[in-house]
Amino acid sequence: MIHARITGTGSYLPPLCLSNDDLVARGIDTSDEWVVGRTGIRTRHFARDDQSCSDLALEAAKNALAAAGRAVNEVDLVILATSTPDYIFPSTAAILQKKLGMANDAAVFDMQAVCSGFVYALATAEKFIRSGSHKCALVIGSEVFSHILNWDDRTTCVLFGDGAGAVVLEASDTPGILATALHADGRYSDILSVPGSVSGGKVTGSPFLQMDGQAVFKFAVRVLGEVAVEVCKAAGIATSEVDWVIPHQANVRILQATAKRLDLPMEKVVVTVAEHGNTSAASVPLALDLAVRDGRIRPGQRLLLQGVGGGFTWGAVLLTF
Ligand code: UT7
Repeated sequence: MIHARITGTGSYLPPLCLSNDDLVARGIDTSDEWVVGRTGIRTRHFARDDQSCSDLALEAAKNALAAAGRAVNEVDLVILATSTPDYIFPSTAAILQKKLGMANDAAVFDMQAVCSGFVYALATAEKFIRSGSHKCALVIGSEVFSHILNWDDRTTCVLFGDGAGAVVLEASDTPGILATALHADGRYSDILSVPGSVSGGKVTGSPFLQMDGQAVFKFAVRVLGEVAVEVCKAAGIATSEVDWVIPHQANVRILQATAKRLDLPMEKVVVTVAEHGNTSAASVPLALDLAVRDGRIRPGQRLLLQGVGGGFTWGAVLLTF
């Protein structure tokens, strides 16, 4: 039986790091007290004007490949999760393929599931690997949400940041990914959206992110709890047997409420939202890489990765690292 196993992780944060007070100094009508109290966010990183989604993805991908000890031309599948692609087309994955110098005709495509994008991409890559069609996948979440923030909307612009995270997922004789679950409910597509499109040379609708924060909050807490139970059940383990939960990082209060629902201590939850803000599809692989590199996550441990976001989409991947 072919299994799919993570063999390397990597990430990248652009150097510009702004605190809540920096946002106030730039004219945003907010306060450090409000943002920390309601979300736990203290800082976030923003890309330079000349850095695109593929540039951030490139650095994260190079770090993950180095950690896995793989050369670029050993990769036969690239799935890049993003809602802030470089262009309408080609895919950001194809642009990344060029920037990486890949020349082996690998299959590459983008995944659009907003903040659940990385979990969707990882679960998809697992199916490719387990089918035997592909052997070495690069799975990336990369975002420049600063491009779609409305700086006149304080209810959203203080929440998000830019960054990228990546993993190498390879065929293996021993189990890595144990269970996956992906879900969506399009009836909630309007509670978090960028409802714009390009047509006739113009943007129609809005090019900015808009969100019903309280509706998203309630939805996220419910489905993150449900999907955790679902994948643990599918793998035949109790949620208490998970070593680390790595959820999408939107709001520390969502993480606390989810941990409480699952009766898990916060010590088992990797939390990066304070430093990174919400980096959408990048948040889970960024948090994973951070906890791998600082030594918290060790080989053989059980990890629960969870995503939730626009669509509405949600999902989880349970794995042995
Ligand atoms: O990746 C998934 C996407 N995002 C999320 O998961 C976010 C989910 N939602 C949330 O995290 C929370 O709903 C928010 C952090 C967005 C908002 O927190 P809340 O506790 O739901 O606040 P609220 O929207 O009810 O607003 C409370 C007050 C309002 O003032 P009034 O009407 O009570 O006078 C807002 O105008 O806070 C005000 N407010 C702010 N004040 C200072 C809203 N944004 C800000 C701000 N600074 N940035």
